Amino acid sequence: MARTALVTGGSRGIGAAISKALKAEGHTVAATYAGNDEAAAKFTEETGIKTYKWNVGSYEDSKAGIAKVEEDLGPIDIVVANAGITRDAPFHKMSPEQWQEVIDTNLTGVFNTIHPVWPGMRERGFGRIVVISSINGQKGQFGQVNYAATKAGDLGIVKSLAQEGAAKGITANAVCPGYIATEMVMAVPEKVREAIIGMIPTGRLGEPDEIARCVTFLTSDDSGFINGSTITANGGQFFV
Ligand code: CAA
Repeated sequence: MARTALVTGGSRGIGAAISKALKAEGHTVAATYAGNDEAAAKFTEETGIKTYKWNVGSYEDSKAGIAKVEEDLGPIDIVVANAGITRDAPFHKMSPEQWQEVIDTNLTGVFNTIHPVWPGMRERGFGRIVVISSINGQKGQFGQVNYAATKAGDLGIVKSLAQEGAAKGITANAVCPGYIATEMVMAVPEKVREAIIGMIPTGRLGEPDEIARCVTFLTSDDSGFINGSTITANGGQFFV
């Protein structure tokens, strides 16, 4: 069934692939972005997918933004909490600001994205929530105490929501991408990145579409019995 879907961080990287894949499934998609107006305008021009600008770290902005999306496109039945940032540094160099920025976007941002749509999903008796976590939330990563903490926390959100939403027809699942060929991974120093690729049995970075495919599976109407699970898509780099 065609539904309305919200994808945070949906105009670039993995999020853009998810937005396009959900559109290809027949859904009406709203993609949010935080700052890059130019990339968002280009994305809309190329895909016809509407973009909305707000900071997922702000509850008030998220609530107002989501109200506007629902006014424009109808009740949101599918939420993909994808927006995420890195502020990598070894722990001894990590500042409280680097800690807080990542917590605000990657963890509080997930709360802020889901909380405003939750009552409507409960009332309608249907909802599909997917949170994009990370391999590094499962295994930890040198230089990512902040990021790994948020991505592990996201899995806790999903497992709890799965239990709370089940009786109301809502599922909540996570996808844990490994290292995917996006700007975020390309920002890792080349030498470090090459070393990481050496640790991936598949021998390459993943493609954004390979993550999007997990999301379309989890958000389909007939995935109702898959709830509280984590799909790991990392080229065999790490097994839970
Ligand atoms: N394991 C063990 N030691 C390491 C290490 C590692 N992975 N990386 C660096 N070190 C060591 C260095 O060898 C160095 O040791 P010495 O001081 O004895 O020489 C020390 O740590 C400091 O290294 P640097 O001088 O390189 O420190 P830095 O402050 O310049 O940078 C860093 C450190 C920011 C963590 C950098 O190594 C880095 O960016 N690493 C990649 C982190 C990463 O994987 N991020 C993922 C981004 S993509 C993403 O997050 C998406 C996703 O979900 C997968």
